[in-house]
Amino acid sequence: MELTPRLKKISELIPKGSVVADIGTDHAYLPTYCLLSGISPRAFAMDVNQGPLDRARDTVDKYGVADRVELRLSDGIAGLSPGEADVIVIAGMGGLLIQNILSAHPDVLKEGTLLILQPMLAQKELREYLYSSGNAVTDEYLAVEGNKVYNIILARAGLKYTPTPEDITIGRNIRRNSPECFDAYRDKHTGILNKIISGYKKSSNDDTDKILSLERELKMW
Ligand SMILES: C[S@@+](CC[C@H](N)C(=O)[O-])C[C@H]1O[C@@H](n2cnc3c(N)ncnc32)[C@H](O)[C@@H]1O
Repeated sequence: MELTPRLKKISELIPKGSVVADIGTDHAYLPTYCLLSGISPRAFAMDVNQGPLDRARDTVDKYGVADRVELRLSDGIAGLSPGEADVIVIAGMGGLLIQNILSAHPDVLKEGTLLILQPMLAQKELREYLYSSGNAVTDEYLAVEGNKVYNIILARAGLKYTPTPEDITIGRNIRRNSPECFDAYRDKHTGILNKIISGYKKSSNDDTDKILSLERELKMW
């Protein structure tokens, strides 16, 4: 079984031997791959909708891992008990939805649990939430698929850390961890910032403060 580069990168970040819970699993490709490749002895494939869980059932049956991948109908992590999984993956959703899923059941996040989060949007807001809720980001990685760049955030439940502005805006250790993707990532963000700045500069309003703040952010990159 082959994963897309985004899911493959996530699988590479799961420590060998970990029990994984994949929240919003859809086809259960990630947990199935973790079983087949020997990363995980057991896994949970969880989704809030029955349709995706039916697709997950087809995948685990097809690859003969149904006895070790438990399917659960669950809103976020509601259906998981503290400590049941070593690693919780929430991928392919918006950052605010991921934040809502985590904040709805903080009791499930046993100290030390590794969170692997792949937000499609609102990465900055998710990072701010993780640091402020005592589930600090330890590392961030990038995955490139076609012309898209994806952020993969690793955080540790119960860990406290005071982030720098770069940790919030760019991502902790991201340049060091994913040097091969960093130029594409930086170009995407500086392109957006430059567009917004030139929009403000053309406007007849006094947007000096906003422009200065965006230029500071641009400098950070
Ligand atoms: C775009 S798919 C992502 C599938 C896979 N995780 C990936 O990254 O390729 C989003 C999945 O999340 C599920 N989902 C959305 N909200 C959820 C929630 N609150 N709890 C669990 N699953 C949810 C959807 O039903 C859908 O199957």
